[in-house]
Amino acid sequence: MGYVAEPFKIKAVEPIRITTPEERRAAIIAADYNNFGLSSDDVYIDLLTDSGTGALSDRQWAGLMIGDEAYAGGRSHRHLMQVTDEIFGYDWVQPVHQGRAAEKVLFPFITTPGQYVISNTFFDTTRGHVGLAGGIPVDLVCPEGGDVEVDAPFKGNIDVPRLEAFLAEHGGESVAAIVMTITNNSVGGQPVSVANMREASRVAREHGVLLVIDAARFAENAYFVKRREPEFRDASIREITRTTFALADAFTMSAKKDAIVSMGGLIAVRDRAAHPDLVAGLQANVVAGEGFLTYGGLAGRDLETLAIGLKEGLDENFLRYRLGQSEYLADRLLEDGIPHQRPVGGHGVFVDAGALLPHIPWYRFPGHALAVELYLEAGIRSCDIGSYLLDPDPVTGEPQQAVAEFTRLAIPRRVYTQSHLDVVADALRAIRDRADTVPGYQIVEQPAVLRHFTAKLRPIV
Ligand code: F0G
Repeated sequence: MGYVAEPFKIKAVEPIRITTPEERRAAIIAADYNNFGLSSDDVYIDLLTDSGTGALSDRQWAGLMIGDEAYAGGRSHRHLMQVTDEIFGYDWVQPVHQGRAAEKVLFPFITTPGQYVISNTFFDTTRGHVGLAGGIPVDLVCPEGGDVEVDAPFKGNIDVPRLEAFLAEHGGESVAAIVMTITNNSVGGQPVSVANMREASRVAREHGVLLVIDAARFAENAYFVKRREPEFRDASIREITRTTFALADAFTMSAKKDAIVSMGGLIAVRDRAAHPDLVAGLQANVVAGEGFLTYGGLAGRDLETLAIGLKEGLDENFLRYRLGQSEYLADRLLEDGIPHQRPVGGHGVFVDAGALLPHIPWYRFPGHALAVELYLEAGIRSCDIGSYLLDPDPVTGEPQQAVAEFTRLAIPRRVYTQSHLDVVADALRAIRDRADTVPGYQIVEQPAVLRHFTAKLRPIV
């Protein structure tokens, strides 16, 4: 598919600095070869994340001005509630300051220490909060999800037979919740079908287990459903969203992705009467940790931009352009023989660095090596989703090997143009041509957990 032209025009611009190769080498050395240590002033194209990095629309900027900063009962809170009600139809929706705040509110309340929490695949912070609440996170992604090569429409699905077997073996009372991450970030932004959601919902109901959606990229997921699930070919994105959310009991959302805000999140319960203790318990956690219920850790202006962003993120023309960008970049890589997760997911391209740099073993971090090289080549910032991201085994201290060595090129929303994506594809082609000169890395200093943010590394030359 060719590039889908932007369904917007540009009203404000932010200059970006073009650096020389010498400046970039000095910058990455000063950052101890860790992309998180770079100053964003030294980055030309920033593909580190699609989270909180989207461009606000003129309506959202206007919303910032009319945001109501009342401590309680604010107008912007009412606006947000009206929009969330229209989109999701849930009884209780609560703003919080970001996705992991929603997780921090939810998991300690629903998890008895020692219980399992099952997911198609947990995002890192979600897995972290399950663990902090004393739960045991279990990932049960479908077999296609773990296979970079296989072309399947819904590689983000949960493995229903394994889910049923797990519940049959352990019993519903040992499982606090099933969490469906849509789209499935950790396997490459791959979508989940409504059919799979229905199955997960059926199994959850049969065993009396709560079904929770991790809704960070729910709109992208709905667009994939429209394109790939025949039943929904003629449905609107909003109809698909309603159908999907009606299958769950609750959701957590990082609004920094598909709701296109710089900061924000939501937590929600569908049927308040069915779970009276749940809402009361979550409200207590919100008031203690986030703030009063009508602002939940956000400014009134944030609530206003979130109400507007939620609607813009569901616009079909926007989603066609948005997912068209990932497809365009992936197709350029295909032409150049650069291996990557296919079909491409929603929020970016996951390059198979292990295959592109076969001379670098997993414990020398090919995904990280490629990320550093992209910076040196063209000032592009990306990140490793591979063995470097994984902390050593907490018990044995042994390094852990990831299932795949990816470099993630996450595309911020409404920020970069076709030409920027061409710069990325050209840089990858240049690296491909000198792939055998790219060094592996060793860690010289690392913290106890979440090492990839702050570790110091050195190339092995
Ligand atoms: N769930 C998913 C699926 C996510 O991708 C993220 C964040 C979160 C929850 C946590 O939300 O950042 O607002 O606290 N993902 C970002 C990323 C950071 O780069 O993929 P948060």
